[in-house]
Amino acid sequence: MDLDLSHPSIEDLRRAAQKRIPKFAFEYLDSATGRELGLKVNRDALDAVGFMPSVLCGRTKANLQTNLLGQCYDLPFGIAPVGMSGLMWAGAERMLAQAAVAHNIPFSLSSVAVASPEDVSPYIGQNGWFQHYPVNSADLRRKMLPRIKAAGFHTLIITVDVPEESRRERQRRANLTVPPKTDLRTLTEMAARPTWCLAHLREGIIPRMRFFDDYVPQRGRESFTHAGALIRGIPDWRYLQELRGEWDGHLIVKGVLRPEDAQRMVDLGADCIWVSNHSGRQFEAGPAVIDQLPKIREAVGPDVPLIYDSGIAWGLDIMRALAKGANFVMVGRAFQYAVAAFGAKGIDHLVHVLKADVAANMSQLGVEQLGQLSQYLLKDK
Ligand SMILES: Cc1cc2nc3c(=O)[nH]c(=O)nc-3n(C[C@H](O)[C@H](O)[C@H](O)COP(=O)(O)O)c2cc1C
Repeated sequence: MDLDLSHPSIEDLRRAAQKRIPKFAFEYLDSATGRELGLKVNRDALDAVGFMPSVLCGRTKANLQTNLLGQCYDLPFGIAPVGMSGLMWAGAERMLAQAAVAHNIPFSLSSVAVASPEDVSPYIGQNGWFQHYPVNSADLRRKMLPRIKAAGFHTLIITVDVPEESRRERQRRANLTVPPKTDLRTLTEMAARPTWCLAHLREGIIPRMRFFDDYVPQRGRESFTHAGALIRGIPDWRYLQELRGEWDGHLIVKGVLRPEDAQRMVDLGADCIWVSNHSGRQFEAGPAVIDQLPKIREAVGPDVPLIYDSGIAWGLDIMRALAKGANFVMVGRAFQYAVAAFGAKGIDHLVHVLKADVAANMSQLGVEQLGQLSQYLLKDK
């Protein structure tokens, strides 16, 4: 099958994933919180960012190489951390890590992924970032950090926009627990997706949070208690300060929307700010992420690297974020749709789709350098 003809967009991959994985897994991946307005706010605001095309520019060749935190990546986008990624497809984290190295883009492993840092360590090369959810004791954190480093992750992301779990009603209705329940409803949903079941059997790993699980006493624990819920802490400024003192690699703070917060984080020693609303999964009444980017850029100045995520559905969205002040863009759900739909081949295809869309749209502007995109923004839109 030529995926470029059958599945030329992320929406095509999303639909293919929906047909291939059990409902509870798809709803976990696809949902946001509340009425899911956070998704809509992001989409509408991204759509409102326009560019003025240019003509008679001759043949242009887009240069997509991007420097971030001392490393040169081949593309201006990478893979955002997604908890329980291995639930979407068995071995997803390994496949994503391998693809990240092959395409020379960053891969972020979630602290609540199915794979542990050691599981993906052989595959991440220099491209591994580790996402840290604050934990409820400094001792625990001090045990985790050297382990993450030893597994080869040089960059730590601390996610600060999850003070506690959000409701995500669609996910609740879908009956999701970690590990998946073995009730009739769940088993029926699994049975309807035999390829997904076979892939899990072949991988031989029950989808659990293998990293967090190592720190939770198993004895006396209810079988369906979420390991994350047992050891997760609440992020605060002191936590960030302590973490900065304990982690000597690059530190990225993820989930930032307020310019004054971003400035204070930089003052505390953050190397990079990741502007995001968790793609509407935590709070639905905030501003569109893309609208905050220029404000945060103004607050932190030109030299602090900014990452954008939330709602990337086209290569054009990547250009929008770069033009509005981001240095780099991360993509969450789309990579999971891709791996769930077509495994490793799906990931390669998604990278191709995003890259080809950026290159095609840059040629419409007659622009070769990503740094020039802001000059083509429509001012009155
Ligand atoms: C199913 C799912 C699980 C996620 N898990 C995490 C996580 O464990 N840690 C984290 O920092 N962000 C997590 N995120 C948020 C992503 O890292 C990212 O911010 C968001 O998905 C980007 O938006 P997009 O999905 O529209 O591309 C998760 C997102 C999804 C969809």
